[in-house]
Amino acid sequence: MPSIKSHFPIFKAHPDLIYLDNAATTQKPQIVIDAITHFYTHQNANIHRGIYQLAAQASQAYENTRTKLQKWLNAASRKEIIFTKGTTEAINLVAQSFLMPRLQKGDEVLISQMEHHANLIPWQLACQQKGAILKVIPITPTGSINQAAFEQLLNKKTKLLAITHISNTLGTINPIKKMITKAQEKDIPVLVDGAQSIAHYEIDVRDLEADFFVFSGHKMYAATGIGVLYGKKKWLESMTPYQVGGGMIRAVNFETTIAAPLPQKLEAGTPHIAGVLSLSKAVDFLQNLDQKAARKHLQELTNYAHQRLQSIKGVNIIGQAPEKSAIVSFVIDQIHPHDIASFLGQAQIATRAGHHCTQPLMEYFQIPATIRASFAPYNSFEDVDRLVETLVETQAFFAG
Ligand SMILES: Cc1ncc(COP(=O)(O)O)c(C=O)c1O
Repeated sequence: MPSIKSHFPIFKAHPDLIYLDNAATTQKPQIVIDAITHFYTHQNANIHRGIYQLAAQASQAYENTRTKLQKWLNAASRKEIIFTKGTTEAINLVAQSFLMPRLQKGDEVLISQMEHHANLIPWQLACQQKGAILKVIPITPTGSINQAAFEQLLNKKTKLLAITHISNTLGTINPIKKMITKAQEKDIPVLVDGAQSIAHYEIDVRDLEADFFVFSGHKMYAATGIGVLYGKKKWLESMTPYQVGGGMIRAVNFETTIAAPLPQKLEAGTPHIAGVLSLSKAVDFLQNLDQKAARKHLQELTNYAHQRLQSIKGVNIIGQAPEKSAIVSFVIDQIHPHDIASFLGQAQIATRAGHHCTQPLMEYFQIPATIRASFAPYNSFEDVDRLVETLVETQAFFAG
């Protein structure tokens, strides 16, 4: 979908840039950048406090975005949309305010081998503090969840299943609806890490039946520092805030504090107002995008990248699950991924080399790192060609 590229001014500023690091963060379309500039130029005021016109308008714009997000995700109530800094903060909030009070010695929390550290460490800490056990669903060598092992691991000690929708390292798309159903048959609540799916799939939280669904704005064309925690109202209402202060109270005296109702209760302090407004425009952008055509384009690009990379001697693709998103991780014999990414960088090809915040997954594959190319609809087949040509040149350099 090359025409979409014209919406992203970064490609005018850097005409030779081939940006293949979209799983880390997407580039920003003009309407998102304009929304941020517009807020600070015309609307800037703190929200939920002032009673002058600017403050009222800023508050209204902020709350309108909550309603937009509710509709976009098909949540039952706008109170189920909590703004956070991003996926990481949303998961920490659930770990501290939902899981910790429910977790006891000997209980279990279930995650998978392919989780991002953001969907691992908060649960690990909670388990350590409570004497509970972090259980890990194994994966297959191609990078799929071992479903039989998953079902065996669900039991009455399991207090939460926390699972990624799409692996940021392997690109595997997990069958989360099926997994949610299995967990809920045993009354186990489920958190879905949607960081890598939110830009590519229409998410219907009521259809999914997820208890929690979390994502970051910056991976779906909005600003950094803004994200969303969707949670079922019955759970959010039962949660005691783990961050407290201004903006989240109904009444305070020196003896006690009465929290405000949802959603304010879980949004202490001045929020990232411009970020929320950028999220509103990012949703508009996605709603105006032909998502079906975008997915088809990304599927074709991913298949093409697989096919071309596999034709290079010494390249090994890590993660070949049948259901894959627009992420291709690979290693090349005898050359460290960081050296490759640095060569690619000199050719203006932005990829990511490293463990991608999934060290236990690297351990499983017995590699220190991979090179990851991750696509967005503005990427083209020529981008893949340039990647492949430069990789071949890199190999020749190291061989020579
Ligand atoms: C699957 C997944 N989960 C969580 C995160 C953390 O997101 P953030 O750093 O925006 O909080 C990422 C970011 O790369 C991710 O890919």
